[in-house]
Amino acid sequence: MTLAVFILLAYLLGSISFGVLASWFFHLPDPRTYGSRNPGATNVLRSGKKAPAVFTLLGDAGKGWLAVELAQHFAPVLQLGSEAIAAVALAVFLGHLFPVFLRFRGGKGVATALGVLLAFNPWMGLLAVAIWITVAAVWRFSSLAALAAAGFAPVYAIFFLGFDARTFAVFVMSLLLIWRHKSNIAGLIAGNEPRIGKRRAS
Ligand code: G3P
Repeated sequence: MTLAVFILLAYLLGSISFGVLASWFFHLPDPRTYGSRNPGATNVLRSGKKAPAVFTLLGDAGKGWLAVELAQHFAPVLQLGSEAIAAVALAVFLGHLFPVFLRFRGGKGVATALGVLLAFNPWMGLLAVAIWITVAAVWRFSSLAALAAAGFAPVYAIFFLGFDARTFAVFVMSLLLIWRHKSNIAGLIAGNEPRIGKRRAS
């Protein structure tokens, strides 16, 4: 019962789209109406404003971190094992991808996955950030950077967490994240994927 409530709350938390919220707060158009139409930090940055993009990144990562951090914090009291923590992680991630507040049409999950990784193990999260920054610095594609970080994530999850339910959650998140980037993968192959910071018309 307690776990079901935790999972439901994590899903609802994940359903809060900070890209949509930040755009509303900064009086910008809804990110689902321009660029890639993804309510994520990369697309919010295409509005030309950095502050709402940073707010989106911190909010979307923060919700992933918070859900898992709370589950881990209360795990000893509520007798939650790593399977339960993995389920909470997947719930917050799925909330971001399929948000109940946005008719189940959400984002691609990069920032939220990062928050989950940071909560699982800060070093693992920092390694994901390092891979993202390295790829982004060289090729200037946010999507390619996310795909690289996600592609390696199950490998470094095994290293940091071992063969654990949380590693399985990382594997599932990576698969879903890559699947959500299918239009970006097509753009990268076709050579028309926009580089970071480039504005893209609607
Ligand atoms: O965080 C999502 C990023 O990897 C791609 O975003 O807007 O270029 O589809 P976008």
